Amino acid sequence: MTSQVAPAIRMRDVAVSRGGRTIWSGATMDVPQGSFTAVIGPNGAGKSTTAALLLGTLAPSNGTLEVLGEKPHKGNPKIGFVPQNHTLAQAGTISCRDVVGLGVVGTRWGVGIRSKNVRKQVAEALEAVDATKFADARFGNISGGQQQRVSIAQALITNPEMLVLDEPLSGLDLHGQVEIVELVHKINHDLGVTVLFVTHDLNPLLAHIDSIYYIYDGVAHYGSRDDVVTAEMLTKMYGTPVQVTRTDDGCIYTRTD
Ligand SMILES: Nc1ncnc2c1ncn2[C@@H]1O[C@H](COP(=O)(O)OP(=O)(O)O)[C@@H](O)[C@H]1O
Ligand SMILES: [Mg+2]
Repeated sequence: MTSQVAPAIRMRDVAVSRGGRTIWSGATMDVPQGSFTAVIGPNGAGKSTTAALLLGTLAPSNGTLEVLGEKPHKGNPKIGFVPQNHTLAQAGTISCRDVVGLGVVGTRWGVGIRSKNVRKQVAEALEAVDATKFADARFGNISGGQQQRVSIAQALITNPEMLVLDEPLSGLDLHGQVEIVELVHKINHDLGVTVLFVTHDLNPLLAHIDSIYYIYDGVAHYGSRDDVVTAEMLTKMYGTPVQVTRTDDGCIYTRTD
């Protein structure tokens, strides 16, 4: 017997508008489960808006959208989300452990967060991102890379099938970027979690992604890494000359100069 696996994301002629203005349209794609997709496009193109659609906080203005076989709905435990500018003002003084606890559906700070079951889930999520060492430090006192780890642990607490990360590399130095990319690769590879990773720089991700979701000229597209990462495509998309180098051992680099 063959079983039909729903795509992680299914879009048919999807469009989205905000404040009465169409942000992007014409999106038709099937993003397979277990894939690792980079999400790229100029500032204001609608990358964070795409995340809002998947999370069900915004509805499409046209077309049909399914996420993991369902219509998107708020608070879906199957999707873990690492928001852009994750550093919540109020998180500064609470411990990393408590920040992760906030990811448990139905808990609020100080309510339910201390139950034995939640404490165990939190400890496991912290361990999964290698953050046990600084679990009791205040969130505001750790490095940007460590904060991203904790945010990823928070997103993982419901054992999601999909992880959506909105510019998790911004503000990190090269070393911090590599660490986060390696961690997300591990989550994708070892746990089979489908990953959508918004980034303005593709280079740190090129070795691990299989596909790219890109917003260009008001249309959202999806293609394989090797079809999209060409000098011609990236030059068009970024509006500045981009060179693509492929080495014999399969590495790819992009360069603007
Ligand atoms: N809450 C909102 N109401 C109206 N317009 C918005 C809102 N949030 C974002 N926008 C607009 O939607 C467009 C896409 O924004 P966004 O998805 O944040 O872009 P990106 O993440 O690609 O930089 C921008 O033009 C932005 O100004
Ligand atoms: Mg954004």
